[in-house]
Parts: sequence; C-alpha cells; structure tokens
Amino acid sequence: MIILSIETSCDETALSVVEVIGEFPTATYNVLGNALFSQIDIHREFGGVFPAVAKREHIAIILPMLEKALQESHIPHKITPKQNEIEEKVHVLLDREAGLAEQLLKFNTRYGVPTIDIIAVTSGPGLEPALWVGVNFAKALAYLWNVSVIPVDHMEGHIISSIFDGHHLEAITFPALALLVSGGHTEMILMKDWGQYEKVGQTRDDAVGEAFDKVARILGLPYPGGPEISRLALEARERSLPEYQKLPRPMINSGDLDFSFSGLKTAVRYGIEGKILTDDEKKALARDFEDASIETLISKSKKALKKYNVQSFILGGGVSANTYLRNTVAGLTSKDQFPNLKVFLPDSTLSTDNSIMIALAGHSHLETALSSDDFASTVKANGNQSLS
Ligand code: KG4
Ligand code: ZN
Repeated sequence: MIILSIETSCDETALSVVEVIGEFPTATYNVLGNALFSQIDIHREFGGVFPAVAKREHIAIILPMLEKALQESHIPHKITPKQNEIEEKVHVLLDREAGLAEQLLKFNTRYGVPTIDIIAVTSGPGLEPALWVGVNFAKALAYLWNVSVIPVDHMEGHIISSIFDGHHLEAITFPALALLVSGGHTEMILMKDWGQYEKVGQTRDDAVGEAFDKVARILGLPYPGGPEISRLALEARERSLPEYQKLPRPMINSGDLDFSFSGLKTAVRYGIEGKILTDDEKKALARDFEDASIETLISKSKKALKKYNVQSFILGGGVSANTYLRNTVAGLTSKDQFPNLKVFLPDSTLSTDNSIMIALAGHSHLETALSSDDFASTVKANGNQSLS
C-alpha cells in the first residue's frame, strides 16, 4: 500500500509518499518521497507565526511539494482523459485556496494519476486556516485520484514519530506515557494501547515551546526561539556560567499533573527589566530558564510514571529536539530511578513537524478511512482537536 501524507498544521508544508508492507504495528515503512518546506524565514520577519500568512504560504508551496515528493518516489503515474465536470468540482473543493484549483488541474493534466492508495492528512490540532489548506487539498486530490482519506491527529503523529526507527515501529509495552511538548501543546497522555488515549496532565496557560519562543524574544533572539535558547544554554552549561536569576518552578508541588509556563516567562521579563545583559548573562539566563522549565516537566513526568506504573515513556513534539531535555529523559532509566522503563525519543529529523509521522498515524487508523465524497462532506479542520 502507498500512502500520501499531508501536514500543514503550523509553519511547515510537508508531504510524503510512504510504502507500507504489512499490518500495523508490525509493518515495514519505506519513505519513498519526502518534501518539507519550512516557512520559518518568512515568519521570522514578523517574530512569530500569523495564521493568515501561514495559510498564504501553504497555498503557494503545497503543489510544488506534492510534485517533489511524487517525483522522488518514482511511483508510476498514468495520464487520464480530460473531463470538464472534474474542473468544476475541483474549483468548488478549493474555493478558498485562491489560484490552487487552476494549478492543480494543470498538474493533473500534465502528470496524471499516481499509484497512491490512500491519503492521510492532518485535520487538527493547529492553526485552523493553515490546517484547512491541507484538508481541502486532500479533498481535491482524493476526488481526482478516486482514493479514500484518513483524517489524522497531529499529536498522535508526534507520538508515533518517536517510536519510528526509520522503517519500523519499535516494540512498545503498555501502559505508556507520552510527554508531548510543542509550540502549541504541553500534555501528558496515558496510552493503555495503540489508539487509546487519556490526557492526564496539561498546561493551564502557555505551551512550553511557546515559553521558549517568548523568552527568546525577551532576550532579543530570532524566531523560533527554542533552538536559540537551547544553543545558548548549552554553552552556559559547558562553561559552567554562574546562575543569572533564580527562577520559579511553577506548579511543581500542585499535586496534580498539570503545568504552567506563563509565570516563568514573566519572571524572566521582570528579572531583566531595565538592564542590558552581557552575552554571558544571556547564556546563563537561557540555561536558568531551561533548568526551570525542564525540571517541572521531568518532576510531573516522574509522578505520572509512578502513579500509572508506566512501562514505556515517549517524548514527542518540537521541544523534544532540545538536547538537555533529551538527555534528562534518557537519564530516567538509571538504576536509582526507573531501571525497567523503556524511553522513546524521536530521531532528530522527526522531532519537529513532518509528514512521515502523519503517514504512520494514518496507517494506525486505516479503519477510519473515508471515501473521497464522505471525507469532502464531513471532515473539517479543527484547530482545537484533542486526543482525549
Ligand atoms: O511540534 P512543533 O514543530 O510545532 C508545533 O506543533 O508546535 O514544535 C515547535 C516548537 C517551537 O516552539 C520551537 O521553539 C520548539 O518546538 N523547539 C525547541 C527546540 N527546537 C524546536 N524548543 C527547545 N529546544 C529546541 N532545541
Ligand atoms: Zn507539532
């Protein structure tokens, strides 16, 4: 089976062609084509992602990315005769994606129908205008190619991404706990089995990635701030720079499994108000912030690991690219902590948004595939979609 997967939930336009041999979760996955365009350079000018800008960029780049992924995959494609009624319907399906219908129809005439069996597309959560581009594009492709579509949850994609070794999903024992840390989410999900999710903790305000990005902005660093903070903090650790500011560990003793990061960001803002920091002070503060945020994440994770007798711990989402967080999570399996725990960290190329994870998550839900007509008439992009 060949899956085309589409991801447009935030500022990455990503499409993959993935060959699947076998059944979930023991299948072999071969990524035949993978195209990803990051809009980061465009959003950097604005200091963050504006949904309308993200939507415009997805519309501009999604078709070239499709063609790139398809060409890279070398899967066969067949030219079909032109039919006028097809044109009308594609215009209706892509009514809100200015200009995309014409381009897609030209592509369809030129390239024909590829041997894709099914489409998997992120339907949420994320920025709704951005999500709609992927969802409507999937509607039009499914119609043109006469294939079914599987709506996929972006966060489930991040979970599966962490278990993927490049060709297979690693063996996992349940119950598993997923700590999902991204620009829009900070949540702990208890998994009793594949597809069975219970949210046991979440942030009450900012997501941790958002806090990284905001603190970076306070320090005058470019967007996205997570990797910048990470880089400065690493240098502060290597050089053992002295503490710049004592920062709070919000909600660390709250008794539940929830998080809060907005106060931490405010503490950083107040701490440097009216001061001009030296480069070393910025590095030290980046490290102090990383210490405070990651200590809270780890402390709550440990509570959940004990409470639910967790066998497998999955770290997922964009912030899982953070080296200090990865090392700290890997350290949880030490003799004096959780020696029987198995830890799953995403490959560094799959920790931030990508479409390979959407193909994998889609394959886990083949039974939810909808005919192109049913998908077009029932599925909506849902910015607030939640796993449980
Ligand atoms: O999962 P993701 O790519 O997109 C969302 O679904 O939000 O996550 C993006 C977030 C951003 O907030 C970014 O700053 C953060 O992940 N991030 C990092 C690092 N790399 C990306 N945060 C901390 N350290 C990093 N190395
Ligand atoms: Zn994400």
